[in-house]
Amino acid sequence: MKIAVFGTGYVGLVTALGFAKLGNKVYGIDKDMGKIESLSKGRVPFYEPGLQEILKETRGKGLVEFHTNGAKAVEEAAVIFICVGTPALPDGRADLSQVEEVARFIAENIRDYKVIAEKSTVPVKTSYWIKRTVNLYKKESVEFDVVSNPEFLREGSAVQDFFHPERIVVGTETERARNLMRQLYKDFDVPLLFTDVGTAEIIKHASNSFLAMKISFINMLAELCEKVDADVDMVSKGMGLDSRIGERFLRAGIGFGGSCFPKDLKAFYRIAEAEGVEFPLLRETERVNDLRPAKFIYKMKRAMWNLRGKKIGVLGLSFKPNTDDIREAPSLKVINLLKSEGAKIVAYDPAACKNARAVLPELRCASSPYEAAQGANAISLITEWEEFKTIDWKRIRESMETPLVFDGRNALDGRKLASLGFEYYPVGKRPIGNFNG
Ligand code: UDX
Repeated sequence: MKIAVFGTGYVGLVTALGFAKLGNKVYGIDKDMGKIESLSKGRVPFYEPGLQEILKETRGKGLVEFHTNGAKAVEEAAVIFICVGTPALPDGRADLSQVEEVARFIAENIRDYKVIAEKSTVPVKTSYWIKRTVNLYKKESVEFDVVSNPEFLREGSAVQDFFHPERIVVGTETERARNLMRQLYKDFDVPLLFTDVGTAEIIKHASNSFLAMKISFINMLAELCEKVDADVDMVSKGMGLDSRIGERFLRAGIGFGGSCFPKDLKAFYRIAEAEGVEFPLLRETERVNDLRPAKFIYKMKRAMWNLRGKKIGVLGLSFKPNTDDIREAPSLKVINLLKSEGAKIVAYDPAACKNARAVLPELRCASSPYEAAQGANAISLITEWEEFKTIDWKRIRESMETPLVFDGRNALDGRKLASLGFEYYPVGKRPIGNFNG
């Protein structure tokens, strides 16, 4: 099948290359010339494991091409995916101007039947606006359908998620569109859930908001556990063994970030409130999350008395491991709070330093965790990159001025660290170490 994908960011590019790898002919369209040039030369312009290899393979087979102008793509494709950005407006609602722009472009170039598929996360009823826009601006009397086919791709494992999803949700209005989407997903042996379009749009926002709610729930439990000397990781395990609850997304830590959860959560309660439906659960989920970095700093201050002039090695900048994405990353808030306390910061991240320095130009980035720890009064682990677990902590201990580790993700082996002479401060559990110093 021929497919057009508008927007070659994290979602669009995975979608484009995923369908190309399955043997479809795919046109990736983006107005960012730099991105298109990079992709046309075979370089993925961001870090996402496995994507570079698929780009090489599919380009080699002539299954994917990239353009800034999508006219040919619209003409040839049977299905047109809209994967452009839907950033948050200052009031939290989604800015849909890029979606409108693509809809207008499609309208001007549509000559025969197409399925236009929303993949970016959009507010319920967006399909109505796409349909209306195409109808208003189209040059010829052609039929088309707008469907909602939300993505559930996690950055860092997006390739795996594309090929092995747990479900595929498609909101459609016609049998014709349903058949085409069924054909597109014929190689996937997973539940294909057909709904009406608005329901599919809601499923996406509801899924992300629910997962965010689970995280804020466990993070509040973490606070309680710290007060009563309980262990939040065991609480999470004990709860999660109940299959009605499930253990995933119950990892306590420094809060959720990324381009989806914070934005989708806010957009979703705004949508509900605009319809006259108060949704305090979601507002509270956000409030709990917003407080995490400050609570973390408070914990550091309780252990270190003052932060002024102290050197802090920050491990991890990306909003989660295996990505260079720093959008809404808790690390940024932690660093700003540390700065306002007068601390000196040296950060290390395996992939995200460049992006972090684009928003925090004064940030000192080390080239290894050892360099970040050199002469430090404390280490703060903000992102649980796998490599932090296998660091030579003895070497780190020897190079630090004072041996404190604040683990914002409960990623490290606290007992081992304590045996090496560290004071180890996890989230939602009792600190471990020799606190006589
Ligand atoms: C999310 C959804 O998972 C995906 O289905 C959707 O389509 C896009 O948004 P993503 O933002 O890539 O994916 O990351 P995800 O793995 O969901 O993590 C989001 C944030 O929650 C991260 O900051 C992560 O560190 C945090 N998190 C996740 C926790 O704090 N605890 C957990 O138990 C799980």
